[in-house]
Amino acid sequence: MSLRALTRITGVSGLVRGLHSTGALSETAAVHRDTETNNASTKFEFTAENMKRAEALMSIYPVGHKRAATLPLLDLAQRQMGGWLPLAAMHEVARILDMPRMRVYEVATFYTMYMRTPVGKYHVQVCTTTPCWLCGSDDVMAAIKETLKIGVGETTKDGKFTLSEVECLGACVNAPMIQVNDDYYEDLTVADTKQILNALSKGEKPKAGPRNGRFAAEPKGGLTSLSTPPTGPGFGVQEGL
Ligand code: FES
Repeated sequence: MSLRALTRITGVSGLVRGLHSTGALSETAAVHRDTETNNASTKFEFTAENMKRAEALMSIYPVGHKRAATLPLLDLAQRQMGGWLPLAAMHEVARILDMPRMRVYEVATFYTMYMRTPVGKYHVQVCTTTPCWLCGSDDVMAAIKETLKIGVGETTKDGKFTLSEVECLGACVNAPMIQVNDDYYEDLTVADTKQILNALSKGEKPKAGPRNGRFAAEPKGGLTSLSTPPTGPGFGVQEGL
């Protein structure tokens, strides 16, 4: 099948969807290109407070296995940098954990939650995997692009928002959904999406979670199981027993 044909695959109920790509962000996730602010000679040091956290994290693991703290230490470094992970931070993590830099590169380029280039204050990640797509993630994505005037992999000029397209974020029951920094916004409509972005751009913090009145991931129309009081011991057992 040609690439042209592949990019116009007909899905369920005659819906047509183009193949999506995370474009610039997915490419930079695996490939490092030196920039003025991100090269082997830039400096990174954990703050004193974060160094204490790093030590606490390493102490969780048995002697000889402190490398197991690679993921949380990279996350700590990324948080200290405001949402992205420069080369220098990876080198510092390798030094602290006494492991080859290549091992840290392997981890940082494998997990897509590590951002290898700077991101805006709000990193908006839109899930477009099948359940979210069937529930309207294309409309959510279009609303975000229209509101922020940026495409996937881009950051707004004021540095506030970066837009990414991601695979399933594990909240399919609340599709469609987006993640903004550490918060999930779920059961979204286009209006909800725009309202969330507008609130964020004003410096407000919209309440995370479902937007359709659900508390969490329970059925929208009330319980469909476990809706009667539990039966006592021996229920359904033959009398003779
Ligand atoms: S498909 Fe979107 S959260 Fe799973």
